[in-house]
Amino acid sequence: MSEISEEMRRTEVESREWYMAAYAPEGVPTSDHLKLRTVKISLALDSIPDQHLVLETLFISLDPFLRSRMTGREDGLCSPQYNLNEVVSAFGVGKVIRSKDSNFGEGDVVICPFLPVAEYCVLPSQALTTKIDPDAGVPLPEYLSMLGVPGFAAWVGIEVIAGPVKAGSNVFISAAAGAVGMYAGQLAKIKGCRVVGSTGSDEKVKLLKEEFGYDDAFNYHTESDFDAALSKYFPNGIDVYLDNVGGEMLEAVLNHVNHHAKIPLCGMISGYNKVWSEREGVRNLLNLIGKDVKMQGYMVFSYIDRFGDFTKEMESHLKQGKIVSKFKIINGIEKFLESLGSLFTSSNIGKLVIQVK
Ligand SMILES: NC(=O)c1ccc[n+]([C@@H]2O[C@H](COP(=O)([O-])OP(=O)(O)OC[C@H]3O[C@@H](n4cnc5c(N)ncnc54)[C@H](OP(=O)(O)O)[C@@H]3O)[C@@H](O)[C@H]2O)c1
Repeated sequence: MSEISEEMRRTEVESREWYMAAYAPEGVPTSDHLKLRTVKISLALDSIPDQHLVLETLFISLDPFLRSRMTGREDGLCSPQYNLNEVVSAFGVGKVIRSKDSNFGEGDVVICPFLPVAEYCVLPSQALTTKIDPDAGVPLPEYLSMLGVPGFAAWVGIEVIAGPVKAGSNVFISAAAGAVGMYAGQLAKIKGCRVVGSTGSDEKVKLLKEEFGYDDAFNYHTESDFDAALSKYFPNGIDVYLDNVGGEMLEAVLNHVNHHAKIPLCGMISGYNKVWSEREGVRNLLNLIGKDVKMQGYMVFSYIDRFGDFTKEMESHLKQGKIVSKFKIINGIEKFLESLGSLFTSSNIGKLVIQVK
């Protein structure tokens, strides 16, 4: 008779979870808005509804759009607001520890786009998108990064919205050493473009040039006259600008665009902690008209029919070592609040992930 493991004998676990205590209309959310509490989760099979699983959380992805779900009002990202007292959710990777669905076995590792930011949870199995193939040999955080939303956002921006990108095009990427930026730049390099990035520290400028293959990069805190910086780095103008930050940088870019330039608007993080009337305006939209520029916002979820094409291409780049990732991995679910806040500073490099277990 096989031995029953310690894990299988447990009938209940304590789980720490982050919940929305109050909305944060502006500013970086604090402990007034997000609070940690401990609850008990039953592991007894007869307490778990059919077609449900109990998951132990392994990794949680920290994404800037989570911020926009905490304002208490609809905003430009159209992100549904968390309800008050609701456990906040994020993209994550979890391990099945109890299953009431024959398609999932205990020990399966799964990706969930709405994983509660909690150590354990009970979820309907239909909330999971993918079961991870343990033989694929891909590190788990990569499913939240190169093969997840940031990689897909970079791919949609460069391949679909700006595409077809011609070799030799002058490409500019802001927040270039972040999750989306690092992949966008590398994808544009694969296409033979000249790529320049802006980022928030000299260390990251070096990284962009030495590890991500950018042709050039600048620190926007020290080269804070953006117009002068863009004149220096783009003597022949900008053909593609993948915008991650909006505000003043977007305005400066519009003074340097070439005819038929393309501007995929991926995100505008410089404004996420401000109500819309306090954000910097863009005063030179007229430049889009005279130069036939295409500027287009996008959400990755609208391109889900292209996710298969994206995965095939990125997996191939990953296997061949043509695209690399950088991670900042924070240990412990208790770090969620401060990690979320750190997205709005220049302190992180690459993709920010919390390792829960
Ligand atoms: N459209 C979509 O479907 C989609 C999907 C994923 C992400 N996004 C967007 O893409 C952008 C990047 O996301 P990510 O996940 O890759 O995050 P990330 O770049 O890894 O992290 C955010 C970075 O933004 C920079 N930043 C923070 N505050 C800023 C400010 N006030 N001004 C200028 N830069 C600032 C910081 O880097 P530095 O200051 O060092 O540059 C920070 O590390 C975000 O705007 C996000 O909302 C969109």
